[in-house]
Amino acid sequence: MEKIVVNGGKKLHGKVQISGAKNAAVAILPGVILADGVCRIENIPNIMDVNLMATILHQMGARVNRINKSTLEIDPTYIRTPIATYDLVRHMRASSYLMGALLGKFSRAEVALPGGCDFGVRPLDQHLKGFGVLGAEHSVVGGMINVKAEHLTGGHIYLDVVSVGATVNIMLAAVKAEGRTIIENAAKEPHIVDLANFLNSMGADVRGAGTDVIKINGVKHLTGTVYSIIPDQIEAGTYMVAAAATGGDVLVQNVITKHLESITAKLREMGVEVDEYEDSVRIRRNGSLHRCNVKTMPHPGFPTDMQPQIAALLSIADGTSIVNEAVWDNRFRYVDELKRMGAAISVDGKIAVIEGVKELIGAPVKATDLRAGAAMIIAALAASGTTYIEDIHHIERGYEEVVDKFAALGADIRRVYSDDPIVHTA
Ligand code: EPZ
Repeated sequence: MEKIVVNGGKKLHGKVQISGAKNAAVAILPGVILADGVCRIENIPNIMDVNLMATILHQMGARVNRINKSTLEIDPTYIRTPIATYDLVRHMRASSYLMGALLGKFSRAEVALPGGCDFGVRPLDQHLKGFGVLGAEHSVVGGMINVKAEHLTGGHIYLDVVSVGATVNIMLAAVKAEGRTIIENAAKEPHIVDLANFLNSMGADVRGAGTDVIKINGVKHLTGTVYSIIPDQIEAGTYMVAAAATGGDVLVQNVITKHLESITAKLREMGVEVDEYEDSVRIRRNGSLHRCNVKTMPHPGFPTDMQPQIAALLSIADGTSIVNEAVWDNRFRYVDELKRMGAAISVDGKIAVIEGVKELIGAPVKATDLRAGAAMIIAALAASGTTYIEDIHHIERGYEEVVDKFAALGADIRRVYSDDPIVHTA
């Protein structure tokens, strides 16, 4: 079993390059299905979720050619089937985007119910509601969702809840539907805007992405394109918080500072110095960390995907902080792992009360999901002693070369292979 081992207590210093955005990449790759020609996607992160999505496209018949570490060329014109089988799809939540893309291309789709991070119920009702407004019917048979329409026509969709996935899926289905589609209460995340820009680079007509009303005029054809993915807001935020946690001095490069505003504001509130430059941010922390309260919200609020990471930082702040996870039902599974390191956190439903402690102590812990795993690395870097992190496949899903990037910042971190599962003391 592979583990990440960290000897904590070292201040991070130096420069780190941020990779392309995972949540943009896993929406854009299904979007390639809609093209009538070859798509070249640049600045794509070399992570498990991207490689899994590329494998699914290949399995469906697309020609997938890796040009280099961060560039894929995909010819979707060989895809003849609207079916995405269970064996691969079930591993990743973003596979649900294949529904919208296949529906947009073939007016039908058959996709396995997706898997992904487990933090409570992850429904698809808003996705299916949107498809219904476009004229599609759906049924669930044997773990597969079947969606089909005689003819996709645009419509006016009101999302009952701000949903990134539903916004993405409806955009993918609507860009070739006949007539106009309006999505009200749409998600405004940077990856929604990136998907819209990608689709428009193929000849789509998507307006208003980044606001809560997206208007789409359907077009008959979408061409191949060359498109470069935006930097990853959450990867950048993770390294910013890690620099603050270790009291270091780190330049986080290749970012869009506007995407980081809520994270920057929260770090400054905690007494962390954040200097913004054109495409980088510098993080320094010399004094103590101040307590503060955090409530996760859809963009431009504080991102839920940064919640475990900021909680790890608050674990060593002066005073008591409150974290309110307002997006997901159960995104505090990592708290038990932080408590193995001495964190003083109590969770009641969507609220975590964090009493800052002087220091965390290294221990054997698990990554319970992608961002929880990132939080464990942050806690381990700040802790004294050695931390062993198991189940690191969760982390590899969304962080490119995570051990190398932290090691280059001066962390004593390495990946080890050991088949003796760590016995957690009760
Ligand atoms: C996307 O998940 C991200 N995943 C998640 O990031 C992120 O946490 C989430 O958006 C919120 O920003 C990808 O982009 C691949 P949602 P998604 O639909 O689309 C409810 C990571 O760490 N809802 O915006 O599944 C839902 O229960 C991952 O990179 C419905 O009720 O999230 C939740 O409470 C983890 N019905 C809220 O909306 C629906 O049909 C937001 O979910 C859909 C969602």
